[in-house]
Amino acid sequence: MPVRPALRLAVLVSGRGSNLGALVDAARRGELPVVFAGVFSDRPACAALALAAREGLPTVAMEPALFPTREQFDAALFDAIDAVQPDLIVCAGYMRIISTQAVQRTAGRMINIHPSLLPRHPGLRTHAQVLAAGDAFHGASVHQVVPEVDAGPVLAQARVPVGSGDTVDSLAQRILSREHPLLVRTIRAIAEGELSMNGAQWRFRGTPLHVPLSLNDQDELEEAR
Ligand code: GRF
Repeated sequence: MPVRPALRLAVLVSGRGSNLGALVDAARRGELPVVFAGVFSDRPACAALALAAREGLPTVAMEPALFPTREQFDAALFDAIDAVQPDLIVCAGYMRIISTQAVQRTAGRMINIHPSLLPRHPGLRTHAQVLAAGDAFHGASVHQVVPEVDAGPVLAQARVPVGSGDTVDSLAQRILSREHPLLVRTIRAIAEGELSMNGAQWRFRGTPLHVPLSLNDQDELEEAR
């Protein structure tokens, strides 16, 4: 069988970096055939960037305040991203809205992880939104980035039940523990060609994807039944 070259990842981060850490750990265990082409941040002092540097990954930090407009910041950032020739751009806790022009440059090759079962609860403070709505289930989604925030085709989701004693903190902890395998498994599916995008159509094992895949208890992706 021909050997597939490792997927080149550009990872965008702004905060703590636990999702980036999960990707690095999975790659080190040999469970994620990727090369970290670069880790990019809008917050030079963030923990995620420090983690990347400790791991010896190439890092680029840019201060939005040094650019007159969002578009100019994004133009510089995405020039730096293009320079490392990524196959896939992963927003893993990147907290800045990305301008339409920059999103369009990526031609669908950018994904994001969001802590809710999209299209429910886009935006911030999703755990509080879930509690306020009285939802029976919460979860996390990996979706393609489009110009509209937290929209775009949802590729895969992990669901968790919401209990009567749940709080914002308990939900945050439980969701994060499912985000990590969800992001790792989804990127592995892309790296191995199981999940692919041609034009505007995502396919899973050759079949057009119309509903998000779900991460089961064995951390495998399943088609909706
Ligand atoms: C995660 O909850 C992710 O879904 C959201 O931001 C958080 C980032 O966490 N977009 P971390 O920086 O990966 O720890």
